[in-house]
This record gives sequence, C-alpha cells and structure tokens, in this order.
Amino acid sequence: MEVVIAPSAELARLAADAIEGLLRARPETVLGLATGSSPLAVYDELARRHKEGLSFARTRAFMLDEYVGLPADHPERYRNVIEKEFASRVDLAPGAVQGPDGLAADLPAACAAYEASIADAGGVDLQILGIGTDGHIAFNEPGSSLASRTRIKTLTRQTREDNARFFGGSVDDVPRHCLTQGLATIMSARHLVLLATGRAKAEAVHQLVEGPISAMWPATIMQLHPHATVLVDDAAASRLQLADYYRQTYADKPDWQGL
Ligand code: F6R
Repeated sequence: MEVVIAPSAELARLAADAIEGLLRARPETVLGLATGSSPLAVYDELARRHKEGLSFARTRAFMLDEYVGLPADHPERYRNVIEKEFASRVDLAPGAVQGPDGLAADLPAACAAYEASIADAGGVDLQILGIGTDGHIAFNEPGSSLASRTRIKTLTRQTREDNARFFGGSVDDVPRHCLTQGLATIMSARHLVLLATGRAKAEAVHQLVEGPISAMWPATIMQLHPHATVLVDDAAASRLQLADYYRQTYADKPDWQGL
C-alpha cells in the first residue's frame, strides 16, 4: 500500500494523473466512481482536463453504491450526483455509467445483475474510494463480511449523521438502507485509489493503513490489495504512526513511477 501525504489539490491531480494515464493507454478503461465529498476535486480536475482534450467517450464506469428508495429525481440519489458532478461534465457515452438500482422491485436480483455487469465489462481498472469516519468503504459498514459482494446494507447512525449535511442537516431524511458493492467486489478492481481529507478521517485512515485487518474497520481489507494507493492531506494523516516514512518515501520516489 502506498500512502501519499500532500495538500488536497495535489491529491486530486495525482488521482487524475493515474486516470488520465489509463485512458491514454486504453480508452476503453473501466472506472469505478465514488460519491460523497472526497472525490469531488478529482472530478473537477478530470472535467478540466476533458476541456483540454481528454476523452471519456469509450470509457465505462461503475458506481460503488446507491441509497435504497430515493425517488428517481431526488438530487441526492447517487446516480444523479454522479451525473451532476462528473458524467455531465465529460463526454461519457449515454448509458456508460452504471450503478446499483436502489429502486428495483427485487433488490437481491438487482445486486446480482450489477455484479454480472461489472464482470461482463471485464472488471474495474481503477476504483476511486472515499472512507467513512467509521472505516467504511463504499457502504460496507463495520461488521461487513470481508468476502462480501454487492448487496443491501443498513447504514449506521454515524454514517447517516455524517451524510445529513447532504439532506439539509436532517438525519431523518437520510435513507436507512443502501445497495453497495461488497468488499470482495471492490478488491477485484485492479487499482484502488482512496482519498481522505480532514481530521475527522484521521482515525479511520490510521486503522486502514496501520491497524489489524478486521471487519470492524472494513477499509483494512485494502491491506491485502496488491495495488492500493491512499491519498491523504496532513489532517487525515495526523494519526499515522509512520507518517515521516511515508513522506520520505514519496519525496524519494522517481518521477516515472506514477501511482
Ligand atoms: C460513497 C461512498 C462512501 C464515501 C464515504 C466518505 O459512494 O462510497 O464510502 O466515500 O462515506 O464520504 P465523504 O467523501 O463525503 O466524506
């Protein structure tokens, strides 16, 4: 696992560099998209690069998760968030972005169909991730099976409180259930790039990088991934025991290496 500690604008540039490198080498690259605040600067940077000629026309993308039951036109439905924050700002083809169907009549069947779609696309090349203050990735809350695939989950009170800011501050308006890629689904992606900023993420980042692998901190499963990158600002890095070592390693890294 590589840990990069840098100002947030640089983190977004690094993530965008990795994505651009994949797209230039293979325009059919399959991206994994996260919602929430953490990836927004990356989407801004990709939209900026699109204006300068970077094309997503042959790219496909899969979302990590979706709330269950939010009306199709609800602005916080993740499908709509991704459309607004990313897809509408680049030249992704219609239908190129897929997400779990939180309005399906048969939710388990929708989850199985979603897993099949990812597999049919050849899997995800680069998965963008954020992390919850309770250590979730996607919506795999503490206690999630480390071998889980896409399924329905119940959000913790903490996650609903964290996300209330997107629902006018009202925790009661945050849905209780979601469909989420499982931890094993995420681990199948070829490169994981997690972004975390702010002190509220410091404990989760410490556990993710330096804690024992445990379902209590679901992101710790990333320690088993052969190509995982953790991009954090100073505040999110503030509890890392080996922060000096990560800083030195990154400073000494050859330019050609990339993420
Ligand atoms: C969203 C997702 C979540 C968020 C996490 C952090 O698709 O998968 O795991 O990444 O809740 O959210 P922010 O970035 O808003 O702090």
